[in-house]
Amino acid sequence: MNTYHEYVIHNGEFIGKFEEMYQRFEDPWMQSRQPNPYGRQCAILNLKRFGIDSLIEFGCGLGYYSNWIHQETGIIPMAYDISETAITKARQQFPQLDFRTGDIVKVLQEPLPVDAILLAEIGWYILQDLDEIIELLYKNYAGKYLLNNQVFYKGTQRFGREYFTTLQEYIDYMPFKLIGYTEATTVEDSTIDTSTLFKIEPK
Ligand SMILES: C[S@@+](CC[C@H](N)C(=O)[O-])C[C@H]1O[C@@H](n2cnc3c(N)ncnc32)[C@H](O)[C@@H]1O
Repeated sequence: MNTYHEYVIHNGEFIGKFEEMYQRFEDPWMQSRQPNPYGRQCAILNLKRFGIDSLIEFGCGLGYYSNWIHQETGIIPMAYDISETAITKARQQFPQLDFRTGDIVKVLQEPLPVDAILLAEIGWYILQDLDEIIELLYKNYAGKYLLNNQVFYKGTQRFGREYFTTLQEYIDYMPFKLIGYTEATTVEDSTIDTSTLFKIEPK
């Protein structure tokens, strides 16, 4: 396999070899440059605006966004990634932060004392577990916020089409109370940054 993408989606199928990918590639998704800046800024605005003081971030990768959030808000996210190599690198780079190895489905089994759950650019990789994740959020995080940052493709999305292809379809899929959403792009971009804020109300 020649590109990091092939370790994640191969011949149109999700294979999710994140650990092998991080062992081979230094900076997948150009994380050090933090693309999708509109979505990232918007989630940070929502953290400030809605008085969110603590959060778990799932799929933190190399930790750049956790660090950005920390710089902007003072929050130290409990930042989880499924790849041990990513977490080792994140700890080396940002030793002042809190990085942990863990799969979102396993970590959500127990309630942790935070105001919010953040999913930043992990949405396309957890589709097969999304319904279980929704149930775990109802069970263990009712009353908390869910922030989801996710990029959508301008008419060129191939993977995950059976779930949603636009932000509106994503919002319709999710059962939680919608608080706010943002879509932003430039004319030249082939993708649309989105950031959504939900309240996980009890069922
Ligand atoms: C596109 S990267 C996003 C990195 C970072 N959040 C950012 O926005 O810069 C997606 C990350 O999700 C992680 N991931 C994928 N499936 C996961 C799971 N089930 N539990 C935890 N992390 C997962 C991958 O290892 C990868 O680091």
